[in-house]
Amino acid sequence: MEGLKLIDIGENETIKEQVRRGLKEQQPFESEDFKAANEISLDLTYMFDTPDEGSIRRKDVENLIPGIIKAHKMLKNDEGDIYDRGICMTGWQTLPLEITAEHLDEIRSVTGELSGEIDAFVSLGIGGSYLGVEATFRALTHQYFNQLTREQRGGAPEIYFLGNNMDPDYFRDTLDMLEGKRIAINVISKSGTTTETAIAFRIIQKLLEKNWGGRANRMILATTDKAKGALRKLADRKGYRSFIIPDNIGGRFSVLTDVGLVGLAMAGIDIEEFVAGFKNMQDIALRDDFWKNPALVHAGLRHAAWLKGKKIEVVATNAVSLYGVARWMEQLFPESEGHEGHGLWVSPSLYSEKLHANGQAVQEGERNILETFLLLLEHDNRIQIPATDDDLDGLNFLADRDLDMGFINRKVVEGPAYAHFQGGVPNMIVEIPKRNAYNLGQFYYMMERSVAISGYLLGHNPFIQPGVEAYKQAMFALIGKPGYDDIARSMEKNLKRIKRIRV
Ligand code: PA5
Repeated sequence: MEGLKLIDIGENETIKEQVRRGLKEQQPFESEDFKAANEISLDLTYMFDTPDEGSIRRKDVENLIPGIIKAHKMLKNDEGDIYDRGICMTGWQTLPLEITAEHLDEIRSVTGELSGEIDAFVSLGIGGSYLGVEATFRALTHQYFNQLTREQRGGAPEIYFLGNNMDPDYFRDTLDMLEGKRIAINVISKSGTTTETAIAFRIIQKLLEKNWGGRANRMILATTDKAKGALRKLADRKGYRSFIIPDNIGGRFSVLTDVGLVGLAMAGIDIEEFVAGFKNMQDIALRDDFWKNPALVHAGLRHAAWLKGKKIEVVATNAVSLYGVARWMEQLFPESEGHEGHGLWVSPSLYSEKLHANGQAVQEGERNILETFLLLLEHDNRIQIPATDDDLDGLNFLADRDLDMGFINRKVVEGPAYAHFQGGVPNMIVEIPKRNAYNLGQFYYMMERSVAISGYLLGHNPFIQPGVEAYKQAMFALIGKPGYDDIARSMEKNLKRIKRIRV
């Protein structure tokens, strides 16, 4: 039998886009037409007055506006509880304006040169040193990127991620994909001591050195603090080419720093367009008029929901490409808000899949849920639905009316938005016009600003993560890392008091 041919399916527009990017053809992201076609908006139709007791009224949000505007002004002036170890952690605020064309050129020159020498690129990192770059990569590229030809990838090497878990099977499987290939890596860690990243790095570094000896150093990029930390020391000692995570920008706010830019440039994504999106939203998010500032509205609605007893924010998208972005939000918000008994639990969800799973609980379970949809308005591809002779499933009407798959996929948000609202789940829809770097940039900046405002409203610093640090310390102690003996001893004492229960 012959292999399958894609008859009457048409070319894949995502691949065409990758090829176009590979040819360095830029989108007209500075033009007014482009900007008008790429405005992110919030649809609040189903946010207020759900038919249940926990309903949020517009008045609830209006009552919050003076406090939100005060927070907005304090944030602009770098005032308040926003310091980490003496450093004001709002460097991300003005970063879009501070990134120079020379800096972008420098990144492109390193990645462009390296790309020509390798088959695969591995990004090592966890948390803020991983999620943003992977989310953006997945949002803008073909879902089976590594299985495409190099030409279809726009000339980019295969892209992999490691260091984000400690699973040896996953690690080994990834190594199989790298065997026989010329590889380069970017090890990303601000502290330089995060266990998962450090261990992944050791293994890969050893492999590179065993294969290529001294030449291996050229294949290692390090993205870390400019002066301190273990990775900085190692990078300087070995002469790795290195990139910087600024002191005043925390991991989860770092997607626009070299943390994100290096990997995205390697994947052929237009980092200039990405920066332009951030810049545009920065302008919008500085507006003092609450209802004209989507970052403030977003913060206000979520806070009102939390005050009304909502505990879970389901962040649901109908675009597989945006699922990683929902996962990025799962970090940005809970790591920033989940302090002192506060904050919404963010649950990333892919619809339709989850509508056939925990969608039941969203509709009829405990009424403690807020839902935020990430709705992709325009997919890259249009897939026609064919008519059949017998029409047994009764869907010929779709073909008759020329309704494509993307049309139905939009209803995968609009349908649940209506039904969940009726069931007592307030929801807002973040409308994202198209899959492009500009819109991702806009979206990230809006969310960063929103979560910063949320910190003021909750009354604690959103730029620290003592809970994450606590787990890191406990891990060090448990694996017997020298220097953590005191913690290990106190753990041992505590563990003696805890009765082990096994059934
Ligand atoms: O947002 C954060 O600060 C964290 O999620 C960190 O990014 C994460 O813990 C990784 O830390 P590091 O970059 O120091 O390895």
